[in-house]
Amino acid sequence: MTVTFYVPRDSGALALGAEKVARSLQAEIDTRNLDARIVRNGSRGMYWLEPMVEVETPNGRIAYGPVKASDVAALLDNGMAEGGVHPLWLGLIDHHPFLAKQTRLTFARCGITDPVSLEDYRVNAGLRGLENALKLTPAEIVAQVTESGLRGRGGAGFPTGIKWKTVLETAGSQKYIVCNADEGDSGTFADRMIMEGDPFVLIEGMTIAGIAVGATKGYIYTRSEYPHAIAVMNEALQIAREGGVLGSSVLGSSYAFDIEVRVGAGAYVCGEETALLESLEGRRGIVRAKPPLPAHKGLFGKPTVINNVISLASVPVILDKGAPFYKDFGMGRSRGTIPLQIAGNVKYGGLFEAAFGLTLGEIVDDIGGGTATGRPVKAVQVGGPLGAYFPRELFDTPFDYEAFAARDGLIGHAGLVVFDDSVDMLKQARFAMEFCAIESCGKCTPCRIGSTRGVEVVDRLSANIEPDKQIEVLTALCNTMKFGSLCALGGFTPYPVMSALTHFPEDFRPAPIAVAAE
Ligand SMILES: Cc1cc2nc3c(=O)[nH]c(=O)nc-3n(C[C@H](O)[C@H](O)[C@H](O)COP(=O)(O)O)c2cc1C
Ligand code: SF4
Repeated sequence: MTVTFYVPRDSGALALGAEKVARSLQAEIDTRNLDARIVRNGSRGMYWLEPMVEVETPNGRIAYGPVKASDVAALLDNGMAEGGVHPLWLGLIDHHPFLAKQTRLTFARCGITDPVSLEDYRVNAGLRGLENALKLTPAEIVAQVTESGLRGRGGAGFPTGIKWKTVLETAGSQKYIVCNADEGDSGTFADRMIMEGDPFVLIEGMTIAGIAVGATKGYIYTRSEYPHAIAVMNEALQIAREGGVLGSSVLGSSYAFDIEVRVGAGAYVCGEETALLESLEGRRGIVRAKPPLPAHKGLFGKPTVINNVISLASVPVILDKGAPFYKDFGMGRSRGTIPLQIAGNVKYGGLFEAAFGLTLGEIVDDIGGGTATGRPVKAVQVGGPLGAYFPRELFDTPFDYEAFAARDGLIGHAGLVVFDDSVDMLKQARFAMEFCAIESCGKCTPCRIGSTRGVEVVDRLSANIEPDKQIEVLTALCNTMKFGSLCALGGFTPYPVMSALTHFPEDFRPAPIAVAAE
């Protein structure tokens, strides 16, 4: 029987040498004349174990990792083709605690299937959501999404069903589905992992969205820094067209839908939905004033749904298993699951999909295993560069939109960046202001000027020039930016700055310069 090996084609695994491993494995298969094939899967999201090689055995898939190209011969000598034991042996991958503790709904197939095999996708419950959607009216599809409690995973947490309802009820000769795959937040990689590991789930989600609101055209807007995601997406789109999923008759129905990938040059502000639309239309990424909402006047002035990759990729499971199934996971008004992206100075960095409600401490200490350096965790920045820094004292905060907001934070795109006790929070506050100054689109004064003034104030603090006065100015500046900015780039930059100041005041009071004794 042909042996099947899996070597990821995910960017994270490739960055760690997966291509060399795949080549070395193929060379050994050829030399040893083995009856074997290599599937290039997505990543399971356990990046400290990448490149992770798996082999299909009668008992399930056995994993090895992290594998170097130079390990391959010894692994085969030790019976890797039959799941043989070796120092890199990880056992049955489904039993690995990092995976076994997850609730994988959106990422159910990621790392398991061949990302560009429509057949594999179908066999693993793919297209069931779309097939069910085709039996419903558009309003019924929208009602299912609303009922599921799904909220936008791009950052703002706006209810997806309500956004879709607005577009459905807005008249337009042409409507669009735009997938926000810009993924600019620091420490985030969930969108990329889906595009590289299970692109059909995004295609399916966008197609359901198109049918639900009456759109026939979709765009995936991503950045040039994602070449592998772009390649896999384009390959999958072509296969979906050939397989009758996309085109003039979606799965043989009367609905037409097609998708194109569009690549931006990579500016943080181009992730903001209206700047994204400007960029998609071929202009510089500058934020548009709202109203009009994109749902009324979006891409090329037409009614447009803009959703994050994960929001759209979560729709197929909702339509497959039903809104009550999805809604059953989570806490409060945060329903379903969220792909936590654990990054920074952390021992077990990776993607962990779980129902909302885990505490920050559980995520960082239990799942992430603390810092990679072994030093104490000092702070965790949650929600990207505009997210607040959380100290250990707030590690009881549950992962929930409202609980984070109540503590002056945000969950954003669910990226967590861990820092040990060597971090200087004054420098982090400066970085937040500097980042805003560099990435500001320049449309409004509080952000454009405020961020530059913010860098100057922090620099004066670092130089210990009238520290009390600087803290007063910094606080006032943050208030102006928070309440006076046109979009969340200027409006949320105060979050990392003020959380650093509030929770780590000692870092904002550099020790006075010692005067040498006479
Ligand atoms: C500066 C800035 C950057 C953003 N970057 C992203 C991004 O990279 N990806 C994303 O999905 N949303 C991003 N957003 C949020 C989008 O404006 C928008 O809320 C989101 O695409 C809506 O989709 P959702 O409802 O599915 O979350 C950003 C917002 C701001 C203000
Ligand atoms: S807050 Fe900044 S990025 Fe947003 S519109 Fe104003 S200048 Fe542009």
